[in-house]
Amino acid sequence: MGLLRKLVFVTVTVAAVGIGSIFYSLNQVPPLPELGNTWWGAGEPRKLDESIRNFKINISDDILHDLQIRLDLHSHLTPPLEKTNFEYGFNTDYLKKVVEFWKTKYNWRERQVFLNSFPHFKTYVDGLDLHFIHVKPQKVEKNTRVLPLLVLHGWPGSIREFYELIPLLTKPRKNVDFVFEVIVPSLPGYGFSEGSSKPGLGAVQMAVVMKNLMERIGFKKFYAQGGDWGALIVSHMGTLFPERILGVHSNMCFVNSISANVKRILGSFWPTLIVDEAHVDKMYPLGKHYAHLLEEMGYMHLQATKPDTVGVALRESPVGLAAYLLEKFSTWTDKDWRSLPDGGLTRKYKLTDLLDNVMIYWVTGSITTSARLYSESFSKAQFALNLDSIPSITPTACAMFPNELAYQPKCLVQEKYRKLVRYTDMPRGGHFAAFEEPGLLADDVWEAVKIMERDYKQQKNAA
Ligand SMILES: *[C@@H]1O[C@H](CO)[C@@H](O)[C@H](O)[C@H]1NC(C)=O
Repeated sequence: MGLLRKLVFVTVTVAAVGIGSIFYSLNQVPPLPELGNTWWGAGEPRKLDESIRNFKINISDDILHDLQIRLDLHSHLTPPLEKTNFEYGFNTDYLKKVVEFWKTKYNWRERQVFLNSFPHFKTYVDGLDLHFIHVKPQKVEKNTRVLPLLVLHGWPGSIREFYELIPLLTKPRKNVDFVFEVIVPSLPGYGFSEGSSKPGLGAVQMAVVMKNLMERIGFKKFYAQGGDWGALIVSHMGTLFPERILGVHSNMCFVNSISANVKRILGSFWPTLIVDEAHVDKMYPLGKHYAHLLEEMGYMHLQATKPDTVGVALRESPVGLAAYLLEKFSTWTDKDWRSLPDGGLTRKYKLTDLLDNVMIYWVTGSITTSARLYSESFSKAQFALNLDSIPSITPTACAMFPNELAYQPKCLVQEKYRKLVRYTDMPRGGHFAAFEEPGLLADDVWEAVKIMERDYKQQKNAA
């Protein structure tokens, strides 16, 4: 070989080995962490009552009276800038109307009856007194199997998001040989579930707690559904406990491995390698989408670093809490609603239902403990577990709602979920899928589990 040829040969070989080893290291799968049970309660671990207790939401008159006083206080709302709506945050002209409605029309005692219309329970798990709703189907035909389904909310949501969804899952459907019994917990530190007394209860650890809760209720194997933090937790459950999770249905599939992010960036040069033509504008140009995410994610940085500080203000002021939480229901449902005087809040939601969700945070005083989930999940310890880079072998389905904050194309989702049985581009809806579009979400859950059950049947027949 001539010198030039040799040089070219050596260069090409070195480059090929280099690129190969980069891809090899990107595709290295870290070991699955071993996560034992942890005592998250106050003080030293001790034996606690392991029974499942009936529970009714019953907020004391003292708490309601205190709320009334705070709402009646002369308020000091700063007027919005001229000709602006929700561009600078929650519009205070509209906030006045929300508060007026809250004071004069919203009736907690009535709402409590509604919220208690499903059976509620509590039980101690890993040192925490955890709350959950458990609804069994009525009138099940003899040949219909009842499948347990864990449904998890996120922040700033609560069990309230699922009241319209639950009956759509527990009512048998024609020509389907299964139906769901639904378990809807309040996440630890949210609503009626006790928060941790110890540092370290992030989304990964919550996956362990939720697995333990299901075992307590009597389910060693079950399906799991979630959005927002709930989506992350059910994803972790599928990754960590494939022998227990029959299938995962997520309405916020989010893949954050290094190789997925490299592909996401490469897609800037050739988008249709990553995402189909019809959805290119949901991902690219990346700069535009990252800019939008940054606008929406200030709260996340705050809660991931100093949740207790902002928690003081939000715990003192119900008006402040309502603005902070309800702003998310505006822009996360539809980013264009920023330019509407009421932030679009009454387009898809009723003020009463939105206030139910705010009240669940207020009457339980759980805003600070709920916000800590960000700190615990964006910690070094949590990232060291590397769960984002460990593929899940649990059958998984993703419902991608068009107004979700970050569009995830099927090809990236498949990096994490090696048994992606269904990926649906949903016709409408945003981040709060269960609350916004219970019918669409329920249908997609049914379809996904039909596929998963059919696959299990085929495996059984083949064995
Ligand atoms: C709530 O608690 C009060 C006081 O303990 C009791 O009188 C009332 O009957 C309870 N209401 C419900 C709906 O359980």
